[in-house]
Amino acid sequence: MTVAGAIAWGHGVLASDEFTECSKVCEILLAHAADRDWSWISLNGQRALSTSELEEFRSLVFACATGTPVQYLVRATEFFGLELKVERGVYVPKWETELLVEEALSFLEAPQLSDLTWGMSRTRAVIHEVGTGSGAIAISIARHAPATAISASDVSAFALSLAQANARLNGVAGRIRFCRGDLQDPLAGVPDLVVANLPYIREGEISDLPTNVRVQPRSSLVSRCSGLGHINRLLENLTIKPGGRVMLEIGFDQASGVQSICSGNPKLSYERTVKDLAGLDRVAVIAAL
Ligand SMILES: C[S@@+](CC[C@H](N)C(=O)[O-])C[C@H]1O[C@@H](n2cnc3c(N)ncnc32)[C@H](O)[C@@H]1O
Repeated sequence: MTVAGAIAWGHGVLASDEFTECSKVCEILLAHAADRDWSWISLNGQRALSTSELEEFRSLVFACATGTPVQYLVRATEFFGLELKVERGVYVPKWETELLVEEALSFLEAPQLSDLTWGMSRTRAVIHEVGTGSGAIAISIARHAPATAISASDVSAFALSLAQANARLNGVAGRIRFCRGDLQDPLAGVPDLVVANLPYIREGEISDLPTNVRVQPRSSLVSRCSGLGHINRLLENLTIKPGGRVMLEIGFDQASGVQSICSGNPKLSYERTVKDLAGLDRVAVIAAL
């Protein structure tokens, strides 16, 4: 079978509502099976595949069709233009979370009026990332804001070992301290910025999610108290400098819940909600007073 024939077969197996981009997914899986670049697959439609390449491709397509995330199958993903390793048992970073990184970078690059020096930016800021998973957010910030000091926590030792490997892969291993523990507990220093994509899915809603999300660790998805349990605990026990910011990824209907947590806390002021490209609430920005 040719490359183009295999892609067409894979497309037929995967075509469904859950796979809106089947052709791209097939190309990624075939590139992995044939140990080639994605560009080779796109440019060599009429090349014949070997039996072993075809068998490997078929088993990857069937695994994908039954709900294994593509990223687990190829053990890699791209986030904020960086290549990251991904392993089963660790949350797969999603592109919507790039918005949180963009917000963090624009806060870090903004002039600080309190410095009375126009152009002075928060380039030397201290940053905490809580719930780092594969390290996607911390590593992206480290790459784009090179003088910042970043510490990142997670409860999962396995996630932290993957995050370390990803930091090495992206040349920022010496720039991020990865620490195991609950929320900010293991993180040293008082940060200017706290960023977090903590679990925020309500317990009862997990069964509504696509299979390729449900197979990810429950401890990275679900939170009590209408999905706001982790965020509530983080904000209640927050360590941050006055004038600093907390940036949280949230569910599309959770902005008002986070606002009411902030209104009960005299040290916090809910600043704004940032919408994603689909027009859904995605990031909550909170100022520390
Ligand atoms: C939704 S995943 C986000 C991972 C990563 N930040 C990203 O955006 O791709 C949430 C992460 O929080 C971690 N986590 C869950 N409870 C935690 C807690 N109490 N303290 C620290 N990390 C926690 C999970 O292990 C998981 O890696």
